[in-house]
Amino acid sequence: MHKRDATPSLIRLDSSGPPPAQQQRTERKISQELAKEWFRDEVHSKELGAGGYGETRTYEVQDAEYRAALGPVVVVKHFNDDGYDDDEMLLIRELARREHDAHHAAWKRMPSDCRQYLAQPATMSFEDDPNVGSYLVQTLVGEEGLATMSWGKFDEMLATTGAQLDRADKVWIAQSFGDMLGCIANARMVHKDFNTENVLVLTNFGEKPLRFEWRLIDWGIAEVRGQADEVLDPELCSDDLYGWEGAPGFRFARGEGTCHGEKPGVVRTLYLMLRGSDVLDADVAQWIREGFAAKTGLRIPPSLADAHRERRKAEDAARAARA
Ligand SMILES: Nc1ncnc2c1ncn2[C@@H]1O[C@H](COP(=O)(O)OP(=O)(O)O)[C@@H](O)[C@H]1O
Ligand SMILES: [Mg+2]
Repeated sequence: MHKRDATPSLIRLDSSGPPPAQQQRTERKISQELAKEWFRDEVHSKELGAGGYGETRTYEVQDAEYRAALGPVVVVKHFNDDGYDDDEMLLIRELARREHDAHHAAWKRMPSDCRQYLAQPATMSFEDDPNVGSYLVQTLVGEEGLATMSWGKFDEMLATTGAQLDRADKVWIAQSFGDMLGCIANARMVHKDFNTENVLVLTNFGEKPLRFEWRLIDWGIAEVRGQADEVLDPELCSDDLYGWEGAPGFRFARGEGTCHGEKPGVVRTLYLMLRGSDVLDADVAQWIREGFAAKTGLRIPPSLADAHRERRKAEDAARAARA
């Protein structure tokens, strides 16, 4: 996938010298002080975004070792700390550490077909004085030839241009969304902060054929819900009242009954984006479930399939009445 995964040469394996340099590179921690320097570097950093917790800037990595490990441009996130006292600074440091650990857990637990959805987290050290401020570093999401934008921005673009997506593209968009949710389930985690700013879209929108890929950032409140290999109930679950419309989730076979998954609102945004004369909300829900089921190997329970059919019938009837 990346240079850092390349197998070290045989000569290196044979030598009794230091381990391959590439391995050292990925292990080198970034101190809070260093991240702060990067964030404040007026020549090499640039404003990127802002969210509920912090402000992000891109930074052109000058150090060759960090560049080899993380790529030429990284994202530095600074947690808001304007006017906070010492105790609060300590609390903010804890928030940063929690995000760091959850992001690393996701990265560690995911195989490469799932890591494609993530930015790679750098390994930070948290020993510096909390009053230095709290920072996280990760790779910049993006791909050559594709524009990166927030899901919200893409949505807005669709609305303002009035452009129609092909049905086949809609199927892909929904199924790959389900695939991404399946990756989180396979990691036995929940992200909990899916929103139109934490989900990013890479696309060549405007060209044909359409390329469209999802990315997921901001593991600030994500949680590990079990051992990485803990056995799951063979059926996927859904937490919402009406069955057909919730985001697909998972239960553990140990049977405490909780359905671990994202909030229903997550998928509703996608219904709004993809619904159209040829696509019902229930179709989108179904495609998401299909992507999720294919990735996790979990079955779609008959009750959900029934709820889906009922919903389809109702939507079809409503449309026929309006026609
Ligand atoms: N790895 C990344 N690649 C590209 N953009 C990013 C990345 N990380 C963050 N951003 C941008 O910065 C914004 C804020 O980052 P985020 O981690 O969501 O902070 P917050 O916790 O404050 O919401 C995001 O909404 C996004 O626009
Ligand atoms: Mg965010």
